[in-house]
Amino acid sequence: MVMDGHINAAFNLPITVAFCLTLVVVCGGYSRHGSRRLPDDLLLGAATASYQIEGAWDADGKSENIFDYAIHNQPCYAIDCSNGDVAANSYYLYKRDVEMLRELGVNFYRFSLSWTRLFPTSFTDKINKAGVEYYNNLIDELLKNNIQPVVTLFHWDMPQKLQQLGGWLNNNIVDWFGDYAEAVFVLFGDRVKYWITVNEPFQICEFGYGNAILIPALNLTGEADYICTKNLLLAHARAYHVYDELFRPKQDGIIFITISTEWFEPADNSNIEAANDANQFWWGIYAHPIFSKHGDYPRIIKERVALKSRVQGLPRSRLPELSPDEIKYIHGSSDLFGLNHYSSAIAYRNASTYYYYSSFTGPSHDADAGYMSYKPPEWKIGESDRTMYAPWGFSKILAYIRNVYNNVPVFITENGFASHGGLVDDDRVTYYRGYISAMLDAIDEGSYIIGYTAWSLMDNFEWWNGYRENYGLYEVDFNDTSRPRTPRKSAYVYKEIIRTRTLDMNYEPDMSIPLTFDLL
Ligand code: NOJ
Repeated sequence: MVMDGHINAAFNLPITVAFCLTLVVVCGGYSRHGSRRLPDDLLLGAATASYQIEGAWDADGKSENIFDYAIHNQPCYAIDCSNGDVAANSYYLYKRDVEMLRELGVNFYRFSLSWTRLFPTSFTDKINKAGVEYYNNLIDELLKNNIQPVVTLFHWDMPQKLQQLGGWLNNNIVDWFGDYAEAVFVLFGDRVKYWITVNEPFQICEFGYGNAILIPALNLTGEADYICTKNLLLAHARAYHVYDELFRPKQDGIIFITISTEWFEPADNSNIEAANDANQFWWGIYAHPIFSKHGDYPRIIKERVALKSRVQGLPRSRLPELSPDEIKYIHGSSDLFGLNHYSSAIAYRNASTYYYYSSFTGPSHDADAGYMSYKPPEWKIGESDRTMYAPWGFSKILAYIRNVYNNVPVFITENGFASHGGLVDDDRVTYYRGYISAMLDAIDEGSYIIGYTAWSLMDNFEWWNGYRENYGLYEVDFNDTSRPRTPRKSAYVYKEIIRTRTLDMNYEPDMSIPLTFDLL
């Protein structure tokens, strides 16, 4: 029987679907229960950050950053009264760290620079040789093993001196950060080809300035957070332009910002606006100025904060506006969209929320945003409620970036699971499989994803959760002064994903075989 192509395709579709469903074979490279191919050019890696792993807080000329200072003055900042003075001791154990990366077979390692280890005065007048040597050694050791360094300039450990000068609230931070970035490109840019300017702006400004979860814990909601936002965006853009104009022509790398967010899903159709507000107030406020068609803050945020400020009797908006030149300066200032993602939430707004928000007269970021959110208990796998399992949210956020920000290339710079210890971390394995699969869904739908990063290479100082929440592919024994690292089951599984470039939902590693088996 002769059919034209159109009828033929329509005719065959149900058969193809039935075939895929019954045989669970790889249809389009995919089977939820079997295995799924990862794109050949997708970079796979693991990440850490300086304060969380390095330790050596005052070694060889390093000066204090805000976490050193604050925790030494308030020893029970973290729930277990711990600190990063020694942490995983990576300042001394970096060779073992690189060995672990070799064991995993990663393409890259994302780590951050400690500003005060390199520049103890905070400024570039004095370069600390020992700090430079440490990072040179790490970078060289990585490259020797064919692992690309992906380097974050700022992962929260602001020099204490700059904090005393206001930190992200002082507009001079744009110059200070620009000078620091320039000095770093001179020192390491011959070998580092991937730069991240700032890690997680929302968490810096909201958790550190708007409330007191992170240091410097200013707790000035609806005011300090917005000032921080503006200065941070400008400082990020400064580092981008310095690299783009002065270094890229010679060093030929890429530079981008990493934004972290949950995906906010509307509770139902009547809450679509509430969920949109949540997404805008968490991350649109950073993504829109850089990645949208025309730049600037999202209109909804500008109008809402301006209106509330007026009602509060203020002469101007608590969200300092961006001038036309500043909008231009920030717009497009990132080669990629760096994305950290861990979980999602359900957003809603109801009569009592309305009452609360409309009757709230003082400045408040939450009141400006005007939504409530929750995570259904059934999303919980494992012991921690920080990484509630909702992998579909990952696909949704990637789809949003694809559709709203013109399919900008995305580098997933963090994704991972919190546990309370143990080597047989089946929940983490489930989490990684679910989230990597969700990422592959997005790729199938057309998202342009160039890299995926597991957080974290090893257990580390988890900020206000101290050492109680662990994210490591490798477990670190913090009770042993030599800080031994041991691969968890998830390390075996991630290694196999990297080795085969296949996500095999059923792979069961033999943990009695050392992870080094193919390196010997
Ligand atoms: C995001 C941060 O960048 C990182 O420092 C932190 O440890 C992880 N999320 C897990 O909370």
